[in-house]
Amino acid sequence: MTKRIGILTSGGDCAGLNAVIRAVALRGHHGYGWTTIGIGRGTLGLLERPVEAVTLEPARLDSALARQGGTFLGSTNRGDPFAFPMPDGSLKDRSGEMVDGLKELCLDGLIGVGGDGSLALLRRLLAPSGTPFVGIPKTIDNDVGQTERAVGYSTAVAIATEALDRLQPTGASHERVMVLEVMGRDAGHIAIAAGIAGGADVVLIPEVRWRLDRVTGHIARLRAGGRTSALVVVAEAAGHSDEAADAAADAPDHGVGEWLAKRLAKATGAEARATVLGHVQRGAMPTAEDRLLASALGVRAVDVLADGKGDRMVAWWNRQVIDVPLEKVVGRSRTVDPDGTLIRTARALGICLGDAV
Ligand code: F6P
Repeated sequence: MTKRIGILTSGGDCAGLNAVIRAVALRGHHGYGWTTIGIGRGTLGLLERPVEAVTLEPARLDSALARQGGTFLGSTNRGDPFAFPMPDGSLKDRSGEMVDGLKELCLDGLIGVGGDGSLALLRRLLAPSGTPFVGIPKTIDNDVGQTERAVGYSTAVAIATEALDRLQPTGASHERVMVLEVMGRDAGHIAIAAGIAGGADVVLIPEVRWRLDRVTGHIARLRAGGRTSALVVVAEAAGHSDEAADAAADAPDHGVGEWLAKRLAKATGAEARATVLGHVQRGAMPTAEDRLLASALGVRAVDVLADGKGDRMVAWWNRQVIDVPLEKVVGRSRTVDPDGTLIRTARALGICLGDAV
């Protein structure tokens, strides 16, 4: 009998999700003759009756889909099955309803595309049913454990780098310090990568303990040396890190870019402007690298199910696609290594990380 597998995208969207969906459905069809069912709006589709789902016809999955940003299936980051937010503000366990929804689809396996949090919840939801589950890592934050790359990260870095390319000339024209706040809920991967690629003078991330006076001192020295403008990249989480030292202790949880621009202007006498890049980092056409990663991970996820395995996540490691046990992934996010290559590269290039020590 023809097997049926399901796929859903969960958590914040990012570029490359459509390429993942396409790869899964094509591999299932061409490799094994399987039918792939796309579940709508992440876990929310499982609460609808009938379940919100669509058969992914291979003929309709042309290359235009691989180019499209977002996820045509929809997604949610408010669909925790075990603590579902209700209209009255309470939280309700709706996992039973979601499992019933899955049963309605008669699936032989499920592929979930998500970050650390979504994968953990889906794993927990599927465990009692015995339906094999395979996760595919996606998040612009690139903080999923056991994989060097998550889908969406390459595109976010490209966009943040392009933003720096655009901020540099306007900053130079007006002799300003341009502060770019980038996403990264708990990690500074986008900030450090874009900061190096975009030629930033300062990069502040939650993984490196930083002090405001080290940053203002660096900008002041650049100005004293004849530089009239500067580029600063700050990760959105840099202000609320335990690593932020005393001198940056009043940095806000939200809006660290604006806060920093004001502080820099006051301390150095330079004009400063802040740009918050926000969701622009998520909604773009995926880079070639993200499309390749999405395709390779999608194909492997189907192969893992075909091998009769479950409770695994496919991952990119050492220039190869592998699969790893999900238990090694959940709850172990991968932040920037403070002694790693990118940090060493940044320091070697003279980029100020605001070091407190
Ligand atoms: O996890 C991805 C991410 O884009 C983070 O970088 C950011 O902090 C968060 O999601 C934003 O979430 P929302 O779309 O709910 O505002």
